[in-house]
Amino acid sequence: MRLLSESDEHVGTVPAPVGVKGAVKVAVHALRGERESVLLDRLGERASFERSGARLYEAALLKLDVLGSWPGGPGRARLEGIRREELAHYDLVRECIESLGGDSTAVTPAADVTTVATRGLFQVAWDPRTDLQQVLQVLLIAELTDNAGWELLAALARELGHRQLAERFEVTHRTEAHHLADVRGWLERGVGLEAGVELRE
Ligand SMILES: [Fe+2]
Repeated sequence: MRLLSESDEHVGTVPAPVGVKGAVKVAVHALRGERESVLLDRLGERASFERSGARLYEAALLKLDVLGSWPGGPGRARLEGIRREELAHYDLVRECIESLGGDSTAVTPAADVTTVATRGLFQVAWDPRTDLQQVLQVLLIAELTDNAGWELLAALARELGHRQLAERFEVTHRTEAHHLADVRGWLERGVGLEAGVELRE
């Protein structure tokens, strides 16, 4: 049974850590190096997704400016705030990759998969025919993924002995939980208004 793929082809590989620090780490601790590669792959995925998230919020801001919001819907200040937090998370991931001796510019397999998977989200968000509520539908997918992604990353970092990284990822996960709650609330209010019902307490 194949564990990772049914094909002999794979979506790239995680580049080996670079620099003296990274090279020594791999040479002295080969198994450790392999485990770090798994972490670097997941960090690559987070970097790709967080950068995408910031661009999705840019699309939401554009829709807001053109079409406006609704009672209980998103406002500019909060959308801009979340966009800034997504970018800060991207910077955090890059910093972590480099602290582990990785290459923050490399596209890891998980990052590559994420890039392909998010194309549909961008198509919806930047389509001139879609409205703000439809962009929120896309943001809900993004935020659900963000929450699960940071949770996974925090657990992995902790199990691999990176306690301080795990703590930073847990803080990030809590921030993402607020994003998710806001997006869900805005979407529920919008859908509820359309249907003439109240979906939230
Ligand atoms: Fe988020």
